[in-house]
Amino acid sequence: MANEDLLKKIISHSKEYGFIFPSSEIYDGLSAVYDYGQNGAELKKNIKEYWWKSMVQLHENIVGIDAAIFMHPKTWEASGHVGAFNDPLIDNRDSKKRYRADVLIEEHREKIQQKIDKEVEKAQKKFGESFDRLQFVATNDRVIGYQQQIDTLNERFVKALNETNLEEIRQIIIDNEIVCPVSGTKNWTEVRQFNLMFDTKIGSVSDEANIIYLRPETAQGIFVNFLNVQKTGRMKIPFGIAQIGKAFRNEIVARQFIFRMREFEQMEMQFFVRPGEEMQWYEYWKAMRLKWHKNLGLGDDKYRYHNHDKLAHYANAAVDIEFDFPMGFKEVEGIHSRTDFDLSQHQKFSGKKMQYFDPELNKSYVPYVIETSIGVDRMFMTVLSSAYKEEKIEEDGRTEERVVLNIPPALAPVKVAILPLVKKDGLSEIAKEIMDDLKFHVICQYEEKDSIGKRYRRQDAIGTPFCVTIDHQTLEDKTVTLRYRDTMIQERVKIEALKALVLEKTDMNNLLKKIFS
Ligand code: GAP
Repeated sequence: MANEDLLKKIISHSKEYGFIFPSSEIYDGLSAVYDYGQNGAELKKNIKEYWWKSMVQLHENIVGIDAAIFMHPKTWEASGHVGAFNDPLIDNRDSKKRYRADVLIEEHREKIQQKIDKEVEKAQKKFGESFDRLQFVATNDRVIGYQQQIDTLNERFVKALNETNLEEIRQIIIDNEIVCPVSGTKNWTEVRQFNLMFDTKIGSVSDEANIIYLRPETAQGIFVNFLNVQKTGRMKIPFGIAQIGKAFRNEIVARQFIFRMREFEQMEMQFFVRPGEEMQWYEYWKAMRLKWHKNLGLGDDKYRYHNHDKLAHYANAAVDIEFDFPMGFKEVEGIHSRTDFDLSQHQKFSGKKMQYFDPELNKSYVPYVIETSIGVDRMFMTVLSSAYKEEKIEEDGRTEERVVLNIPPALAPVKVAILPLVKKDGLSEIAKEIMDDLKFHVICQYEEKDSIGKRYRRQDAIGTPFCVTIDHQTLEDKTVTLRYRDTMIQERVKIEALKALVLEKTDMNNLLKKIFS
């Protein structure tokens, strides 16, 4: 399936099956803001649980907090967001569309990379088993030419970004003949800086002094509480503080569904370490976070690291974990070495000491910080986009189509569907008894309307890993049919064995154990 088609299908499937709705849809929606429906809210909750347990519950030296969205405005001066949380924007005069100038260049670079990938793919088909990728890439004239284009572009781009040279960024767009995807023209405006923070007023007097910001990252709520948590929790370095919460950014380009939203949710963890030990912890968290992702089984080849072209104002090292979304490889999580920048800045702006007394070294210092930062919504999108499958299946001698979401069972919104074959003959009563037992442990859905085939299809479409069918044989031998979503295999299972079986296969803890084994 073409990637654009896949994205469109995921968007409409999400809406049709209660995962994601456009916000305030009856008023034609609000750009880049979405609501999670009944199945979306469950999946999101499970993703957050997978993260929270892996970070907080399973690390003795990490604790979680829940800070307010509103913070003292000085926070954002100290953190550098008022001065430097900008994106370079550019407009196309013909289409009147606005773009992030850096994203236009990155997408152009990705297109050249795709040309290389195509050449490699063609050669691989031609030479078969004897194909030597490294040798081909090093010697093929066309590939060498494309690689040179990428290298030259990169060198200029990284320099321009680091120097915040907006004229040069525009010139790169012009020199590379990058056109507006809508109008197809190169009629570009100047590049301007645009601050992404939303502001609002607090209190009843509307003057400048009352302006506050909606937090653009959750991290600052952790930094300002660093000493509160360290002291009350008697935490010893190295230790971490984790948080899940909403963040807000007035994104210039808000496309691609829930990938780039104006209101979104982050799961962030700040890990406080001794100065000088930050790089070893950076490597630790880089590896650990990738393991967490791969552990879900969405496909190891769908992830890659990408070092930042331009470091944020607070970082001395930064890497993204990218996922192969329907739009190509894009960031799902960032791991940043934030030095002592934030704590030192808060110390300076607040006049309060942000130091830790290290009993082993017998001295005080401002700790260094490694941050892991992942968007819940982007994580949601990795799960949905890898789970969505259209399949041709044979059922009752007929070929049918089904859409199935192969969501990892521990994350699935509904774990078990309970389906009496018919409403009569006492089957509904048995089904309800099973439901009344299971519902204390997992989210279940009871359905007795429509043919069993239709009910299976509906459960496949929301990713329910197990369907339990109660039929006439149940009356005789107290067994039910257990149907597995992915293989569609059905087996007879004793009612008394059902709960243990289902819980074992959907248990989040079994998934988590694999990370730490
Ligand atoms: N505290 C560091 C920080 O906020 P970031 O790379 O700007 O770093 C971290 O954001 C993560 O938050 C990203 O990897 C992404 O998953 C998510 N994120 C950022 N902006 C987003 C947006 N507009 N919509 C959805 N998710 C977003």
